[in-house]
Amino acid sequence: MPDPTDTPTQTSPWWRDAAIYQVYLRSFADGDGDGVGDIAGLRSRLPYLRDLGVDALWITPWYPSPMADAGYDVADYRDIDPLFGTLPEAEKLVDEAHELGLRVLIDLVPNHSSDQHAWFKAALAANPGSPERARYWFRPGRGPHGEQPPNNWSSRFGGPAWTRAHPSDPHDTDWYLHLFTPQQPDLNWNNPDVREEFEDVLRFWFDRGVDGFRIDVAHGLAKHPDLPDLEHPDVNGKTVIPAGQHPHWDRDEVPDIYRTWRQVADEYPGDRAFVAEAWVTHPDRLTRYLGDGVLQTAFNFDYLECPWDTTQLRIVIDTTLTAHAAVAAPATWVLSNHDVVRHVTRYGRAETSLHDAWRLHGTPTDLQLGTRRARAAALLTLALPGNAYIYQGEELGLWEIEDLPEEVLQDPARLHSGLLRDGCRVPLPWIGNQPPFGFTTGPGTPWLPQPAAWTDHTAAAEQHDPASMLTLYREALRTRRRLNTTAEQTITWREAPLGALAFDRGPTWRCVVNTGTQDVLLTGQLLLASEPLDDNRILPPDTTAWIAP
Ligand code: NOJ
Repeated sequence: MPDPTDTPTQTSPWWRDAAIYQVYLRSFADGDGDGVGDIAGLRSRLPYLRDLGVDALWITPWYPSPMADAGYDVADYRDIDPLFGTLPEAEKLVDEAHELGLRVLIDLVPNHSSDQHAWFKAALAANPGSPERARYWFRPGRGPHGEQPPNNWSSRFGGPAWTRAHPSDPHDTDWYLHLFTPQQPDLNWNNPDVREEFEDVLRFWFDRGVDGFRIDVAHGLAKHPDLPDLEHPDVNGKTVIPAGQHPHWDRDEVPDIYRTWRQVADEYPGDRAFVAEAWVTHPDRLTRYLGDGVLQTAFNFDYLECPWDTTQLRIVIDTTLTAHAAVAAPATWVLSNHDVVRHVTRYGRAETSLHDAWRLHGTPTDLQLGTRRARAAALLTLALPGNAYIYQGEELGLWEIEDLPEEVLQDPARLHSGLLRDGCRVPLPWIGNQPPFGFTTGPGTPWLPQPAAWTDHTAAAEQHDPASMLTLYREALRTRRRLNTTAEQTITWREAPLGALAFDRGPTWRCVVNTGTQDVLLTGQLLLASEPLDDNRILPPDTTAWIAP
């Protein structure tokens, strides 16, 4: 197994300024013809990712799973689901990625296991109060016969966060906690077995060469020991409870769990790293997870949620950078992922925040406008200091598929919550004039249907088109890599007219973004623009330019 320190890096450590591509495995490329993306498909497309110019991949969960939540319900943390391949194939993938200079992050799901995990099966078979049940959150129900859940918490996907262990057994009144589906019981992180188990799982994969982990629901691991009722129920996952006082989200004690994880990572060569999926109320809460002795990076969801508006973008960028500077951690910049409405669709409407996108699902969107803004947003994202995340398909300009027929929908979240996540998970179009666009060689059909309109958006169609989104991403990533070698890791704001943003990354790289309705004058030498410019001194609306000032 090659030592990851041998792989090329732009700067050290690599996790300070990497461009990281999210592989949503089941929708990336299908190598065995069953209609579901897999490791074989990903291996065959690694050269595409190298040519795109990213530094690392984050691969969504590939472990054995009943797939109640698309693999975020893990039955065995040390193996690969047959749907995706085998453990030796995963090891080969990591080696091959390293040979191409790509780092590999995998997805770890520590907040909950699957209900088919050996531990949970043992817990259900054991008695109330047993050590097996102590690895999860089992509690007796309320009411004379334990027929009411132990408290009023809701699942993030809607409905109560509790399910009765054995509804027909009057002697066992225990319920178990699940902040997501009933098939995803929450692990009890006060239990030493749980802590030891996950440290061992980290080692299992670090020993196989992975460069790090994306930590699922990183803000959820600690629960208030008394499991008190929520006074103000969360609405759409949003809380009104002051930071640190919520009984199960972002509790003050969560980051301490990751101190041990960091020690494990630091035992290995090659700058192994973490990125936390932590939905918190403010960047100052996020940075509690970051810095020396804690995690290196965390997703910046404020940026992803932000509308296409320079005033609000500037606030998010400033608060993010200020908070991260205080702990000397790099920021991350994310526009889309497998849980949210694709940004081409968001930006094509008059109201462009993520929250608006959930509310306006299925209403008309101007894809041409959305694409133009997405191109401009890509250059903004890739100019900001820190890590940029690219969700598969955004480099092809894919949009959300909001008219999938009801019978093909698979995401459990849609049943009880406002979350609609199938439309951003439609398999990628690679080549050809009709579905399956080379995603699968068949006989299976793609697990979600692709729209015929993606004909012009296959990787093959875009590859040699100078006006394509793919060409823009390739040029931008190549230029970013070059400029990053001399750029400062901070930004300096420059004066800009209303509706525009301008900042410098040191003396060699200026980024100017125009989200307004008026042209903006440019000075300096144009390096790259998100649209062809008629005149290199004029930046039209919804366009971004990189300039050597
Ligand atoms: C966040 C993941 O991104 C999402 O897809 C999943 O449903 C939840 N965590 C629960 O694991």
